[in-house]
Amino acid sequence: MRRAKISVIGAGNVGASCALWAASKELGDVVLVDIPNSVGVAQGKALDLFCASPMERFDANITGTCDYKDVEGSDVVIVTAGIPRKPGMSRDDLIATNVKIVKSVSEQVAAAAPDAVMIIVSNPLDAMVYTAWKASGFPTNRIVGQAGCLDVARFRAFLAMELDVSIEDIQALLLGGHGDDMVPLPRYTSVHGIPVSQLLPEETINACVDRAKAGGGEIVKLMGTSAYYAPASGSVQMAEAIIKDKKRILPCAAYCDGEFGIDGLFVGVPCVLGKNGVERVVQIELNESEQAMMDESASHVADLVNTVKTTFPELA
Ligand code: NAI
Ligand code: 2OP
Repeated sequence: MRRAKISVIGAGNVGASCALWAASKELGDVVLVDIPNSVGVAQGKALDLFCASPMERFDANITGTCDYKDVEGSDVVIVTAGIPRKPGMSRDDLIATNVKIVKSVSEQVAAAAPDAVMIIVSNPLDAMVYTAWKASGFPTNRIVGQAGCLDVARFRAFLAMELDVSIEDIQALLLGGHGDDMVPLPRYTSVHGIPVSQLLPEETINACVDRAKAGGGEIVKLMGTSAYYAPASGSVQMAEAIIKDKKRILPCAAYCDGEFGIDGLFVGVPCVLGKNGVERVVQIELNESEQAMMDESASHVADLVNTVKTTFPELA
């Protein structure tokens, strides 16, 4: 049987962690790509990881490169290329630098692996998904952004700390852009089927919502750069759903064509992920205040996309 192939563009903190999770789960062979002056890092990390495989007992070829020929035939390409934020920066502050990087990377991925599904991770996420879509020319189902898997995992983790139960039993849902106005949904959150509102007071749930919204910033403040283990885990969870055609329902930045009242934007919504990428967006019922928060978050994403369009008219 042919092994799947996963290329990870950007061999920095998130990219290398994606390679680690993907290889150790034996999702397929992994190619780590970076720019020529950093390619030694991509090759070195790939070799280092491969040398762990006899001990961790996974079979996967892992290679580092700066040549997009090595990306050919990829089933999934995870794009982590770009600068991360530092203390005091918002994700939006990265737009001018990262739009150029994501545009150039997406054009090269599209030429090398025209049938791949691209998972975008670079920030500001929702605007970078738009950029990758325009630059690659891929159909909307094969461009998807990772944010919701991470954000909802943070929400679940913070609830588990409060409840002192296994995180495995916490199911939650989250919508919206990957900004501080993301929309965790306590009404759709349960603990082994029990609505969370029966187990925790409202103010504790609200504190977990707030902590999840600011979760990225909390880590930046602690370690001086942005998170990478959980973001990479979210990306690989999506890659696994696609490679194994699992049809998982995961919150991802996907193209909305009227769903949730959003038209022509990539925003975080529940999606079915399978071999065709985003196979469908799952529409759920929102109450008035949830819809208002979703509208606000989507309008922030629209502003960022407009910045991309005005700065780079070729991406309009
Ligand atoms: P990093 O600085 O550790 O790694 C970035 C890598 O991209 C570097 O190795 C750099 O050489 C490489 N790179 C730059 N231009 C490139 C190009 N044209 N082609 C290939 N590689 C290129 O940064 P880190 O922490 O890995 O973060 C990467 C991106 O992911 C940032 O934009 C960050 O904000 C974003 N991020 C997104 C998250 C999400 O949930 N969507 C969560 C965490 C980070
Ligand atoms: C995070 O949420 C910075 O987007 C990154 O950790």
